[in-house]
Order: sequence, then structure tokens, then C-alpha cells
Amino acid sequence: MRLVLIAGALAGLALMTSWPTVYAASGDKAASLAAFDTVAKVMTHPRCMNCHTTTAWPTQGDKSERHGFNVVRGPDGRGQGGMRCSNCHKDKNIANIPGAKDWHMPPLSQGWTGLTPGALCRTLGDPEKNGNRTGAKILEHVHADALVVWSWTPGAKRTPPPVTHKDFVAAAETWIRTGAHCPSS
Ligand code: HEC
Ligand code: HEC
Repeated sequence: MRLVLIAGALAGLALMTSWPTVYAASGDKAASLAAFDTVAKVMTHPRCMNCHTTTAWPTQGDKSERHGFNVVRGPDGRGQGGMRCSNCHKDKNIANIPGAKDWHMPPLSQGWTGLTPGALCRTLGDPEKNGNRTGAKILEHVHADALVVWSWTPGAKRTPPPVTHKDFVAAAETWIRTGAHCPSS
């Protein structure tokens, strides 16, 4: 199943001219847009957005307030000077400090603050912004990445995203398989 998808995504890429970049088959547009709607519900949740910012710092909590202690992303997304993410964030949640392996921020091009659903969708599918990922690589990431998975066991009183991890991955898979269509706005 997954292999077929990967082959499909790669074949799609070969046909690529402009958007959609992750999968160029015309697909079932309505199904694709409906699936992206579910994907977007997760991506725009504070558990994801607090790391995927376009600011110089991560944010925290359900209101996405600026991270305390003057923490900033720094050149490698792992903090600056003595204020490194790993000083406080360990491989697992400890008391109220969230944790997962290699806790850090994504590059600025993977920041999603304030994007409309259409812009969010196009960013996710654009290899120049998404870390040069194909559709298959996006799926692999949302399925297995420790920081993504952490969002469903965030510790303290943090709320998980509104869709289960399983349903989120299934929606991402559908979105790509049906052509990775994006809302116009
Ligand atoms: C602790 C910070 C952190 C959290 C929380 C987090 N991410 Fe990420 N995310 C990253 C980092 C770092 C990368 C870049 C990984 C790389 O390219 O090596 C990334 C990359 C990604 C990518 C691939 C790049 C892109 O923009 O397409 C996707 C998709 C993604 N994350 C989805 C999510 C989703 C969905 C959630 C919430 C369920 C989430 N992330 C939560 C840190 C985080
Ligand atoms: C001095 C310790 C410290 C450092 C350094 C630190 N953090 Fe934190 N971080 C915390 C604590 C404590 C919390 C929990 C705050 C709360 O819930 O009240 C937190 C919460 C967070 C959250 C919020 C999770 C959520 O969804 O609510 C994110 C995201 C985060 N940190 C990212 C980072 C990143 C990325 C770095 C490095 C660039 C970093 N932090 C550096 C102590 C630190």
C-alpha cells in the first residue's frame, strides 16, 4: 500500500511542471481538498504551531505566547548562547517541561504562523520550503517523527490536536494520493 503510494508520488514528481509539486496526478480534487482540511486542523493546532513559527522564538501554551526565559531559535533552531533547547527539553516530558528526542525548531521556511489554509498547503507541498521532501517523505515524517508524535502525548495539561494521529496520517495519505490539491485561499 505504502510502496504503491511512494511509487505514485515519485512518478508524479517526474511529471511536475508547477504546483502541485508533491504529486502531479490530477486526482480527485474534492477528496483531496476534504483530506487537506483535516490535515490543516492538526497543523494549525498550537502543539505544532508553537515550534513552526515565523518568529525568532518558539511559542508556548494554547495561546501560543512567546516562550519564556528569552529563548530564541538561534542559527540552528536549537537556541543561542547558553540558552540551548536541550538544557531544559529532554527525550521525554519531565514535570511541565515537554520533551522528545532532539527537541528543536524547524527552519524559518517551515514556519506556518498566520498562513491561510491555501498558503499552508502550498508551503507543505513545496520542496523548496518543506526541506526538499517528496509526498512520500512528508508521509514518512508525519507518521514517525518524534516531534510530530509527541504532540499526541504532550504532558502537563496540554491539549492534543483535535484529530487522532492515525486519522491525521490517513488524511495526509489521501491528500497526496488524490493529487495534493490546495484551497485557493
Ligand atoms: C518541538 C518542535 C516541533 C513540534 C512540536 C512539531 N514540529 Fe514539525 N518540525 C520540527 C522540526 C525541527 C522540523 C524539521 C525537521 C527536518 O527537516 O530535519 C519539522 C518538520 C516538519 C514537517 C516537514 C517540513 C514541512 O514544513 O513540510 C512537517 C510536515 C511537520 N514538521 C509537521 C508537524 C506537525 C503536523 C506537528 C504537530 C502535530 C509538528 N510538526 C510539531 C519541529 C517540530
Ligand atoms: C530554560 C529552560 C528552557 C529552554 C532553554 C527552552 N525551553 Fe522550551 N519550555 C521550557 C518550559 C519550562 C516549558 C513549559 C512552559 C509551560 O508550559 O508553562 C517550555 C515549553 C516549550 C514549548 C511549548 C510546548 C507547547 O505546545 O505548549 C515549546 C514549543 C518549546 N518550549 C520549545 C523550545 C525550543 C525550540 C527551545 C530552544 C530553541 C526551548 N524551548 C528552550 C523551558 C525551556
